[in-house]
Amino acid sequence: MSTGASAAPTHVDNPYAGATQYVNPTWSAAVEASAASAGDPTLAAKMRAIKNEPTAVWMDRISAITGNADGNGLKFHLDEALKQRQGSTPLVFNLVIYDLPGRDCYALASNGELPATDAGMARYKTEYIDPIAALLSDPKYQDIRISATIEPDSLPNLITNTSEPACQQAAPYYREGVKYALDKLHAIPNVYTYIDAAHSGWLGWPSNAAPAAKLFADVARSTVAGLASVDGFVTNTANTTPLVEPFLTNPTLQVGGNPVKSASFYEWNDDFDEIDWTAHLHSLLVAEGFPASTGMLIDTSRNGWGGSARPTAASTSTTLNTYVDQSRIDKRVHRGAWCNPLGAGIGERPQATPSGYASSHLDAFVWIKPPGESDGASSEIPNDQGKRFDRMCDPTFVASKLSNQLTGATPNAPLAGQWFDAQFRTLVENAYPVISTNGTTPPPTTPPPTTPPPTTPPPTTPPPTTPPPTTPPPTTPPPAGACAVTYTANSWNTGFTGSVRVTNTGSSALSAWSLTFSFPSGQQVTQGWSATWSQSGSVVTASNAAWNGSLAPNASVEIGFNGTHSGTNTAPTAFSLNGQACSVR
Ligand code: GLC
Repeated sequence: MSTGASAAPTHVDNPYAGATQYVNPTWSAAVEASAASAGDPTLAAKMRAIKNEPTAVWMDRISAITGNADGNGLKFHLDEALKQRQGSTPLVFNLVIYDLPGRDCYALASNGELPATDAGMARYKTEYIDPIAALLSDPKYQDIRISATIEPDSLPNLITNTSEPACQQAAPYYREGVKYALDKLHAIPNVYTYIDAAHSGWLGWPSNAAPAAKLFADVARSTVAGLASVDGFVTNTANTTPLVEPFLTNPTLQVGGNPVKSASFYEWNDDFDEIDWTAHLHSLLVAEGFPASTGMLIDTSRNGWGGSARPTAASTSTTLNTYVDQSRIDKRVHRGAWCNPLGAGIGERPQATPSGYASSHLDAFVWIKPPGESDGASSEIPNDQGKRFDRMCDPTFVASKLSNQLTGATPNAPLAGQWFDAQFRTLVENAYPVISTNGTTPPPTTPPPTTPPPTTPPPTTPPPTTPPPTTPPPTTPPPAGACAVTYTANSWNTGFTGSVRVTNTGSSALSAWSLTFSFPSGQQVTQGWSATWSQSGSVVTASNAAWNGSLAPNASVEIGFNGTHSGTNTAPTAFSLNGQACSVR
């Protein structure tokens, strides 16, 4: 019987069913910035059409919990998620747990801050998992369904890469860390745990798949709740392996006297795509003792492979490798090419319980890797996150791991996790399914605010494109200046959210920028995003974030903040960018 106190919601089988998902306003703002500088109105409209899609929030280092130069902290996002919840409709918040000691042991681009040592393990527990679990167990968030992707690449590396010394050293810490994360997270009723299970091109071979299912079961059994501590598995995290290979559906089909799976591209692996892999893995997990209700997620953020290179029918060649290369939609040189692969496109939009794949037991298609964020730098970039230069991200490198072929990585990539505008453009251009803009290409001149006002959550479907204005634009151009700003505010009681769109109207590109403005009536910024915010008296300064410092002529960036006001909330004045006065639009 209810006692009046709000009861904790039940832990459901599929958290995505009947739920909306959290839209990360920082990701949306990055998409808007790319759209604003896209140049091509059709491309810009496509970008804007997906900017309110849900993407995961990555806790990729300890400082991400409280927030750092790259983004807001977990509390900010959870509070935003509360605002986005519509009535009693459940909302899923996709969170990524990614900071194991000795992280990314088989590659360099996402090496982490914690060493594979006992001391690193202790910090993982007390400075990383514990504070995350403490925040998630705040009763005020009990109605948010937290879907936690647990430690991408970690356990899979223990299946295939233990000949690598770094993976040998990391192995016990990966097992212990995943166990610890499961224990802490499963104890919170509204948290759903999904263990990362790599992708078909990594674990699909029977000789990898069966040991992987066994390792997952062993680690789950080591937890307090045993196998029940795991709600499901997520495949293809941050990878570009197709959901389905539509023209390669039978691995044993004979071409030129040999089975298709024996082609160089598949190397005798029967699992050609993520639908194959999830179905295969699910059956192995059930054989290991996991319940049939164990759900699968597939990261479809970048596995679309559309565009002009996409085949429209199976090849007619009788030469096996030619047949496979002409038939496959996956245009990578090798299935091991993981870093910013050129030609990839955005895949299926996030959706719950996709139909048609019963054997795969799918809970949802999700966007775990936020499309537009780099997989790794294509040259050495100093940083304080432990990330290193992996030549798989260098397009000029011939990789022995890729059968001595060039990597096919997109050039000029920034550090892993940073916004990569050039890659985002190609991902949108090569999206499959193609991104629909409802036939209207002119983008709105004033984009909708990227952060919702507190009482009106943003729509989960993209807002309709604003029709072009019916009145002709003014014939007198706006006054010349180094910059132009558009300011909007949504106020309530004593709080408000402010959005500033800053356009470089000067003739030279900026590599860094700092915006100042003045509040006329005592307003105070409490928290901001997409820039580093500070306030001294009435003067507010917003300096570029690491990912949005470059601003070409006519390019715009969108930044925002939350603030307080008392009574009046007059718009700020005296906007200036790098010391030059801005016009207000
Ligand atoms: C990479 C990065 C990490 C980032 C994530 C999402 O794995 O190492 O910093 O948060 O991708 O883009």
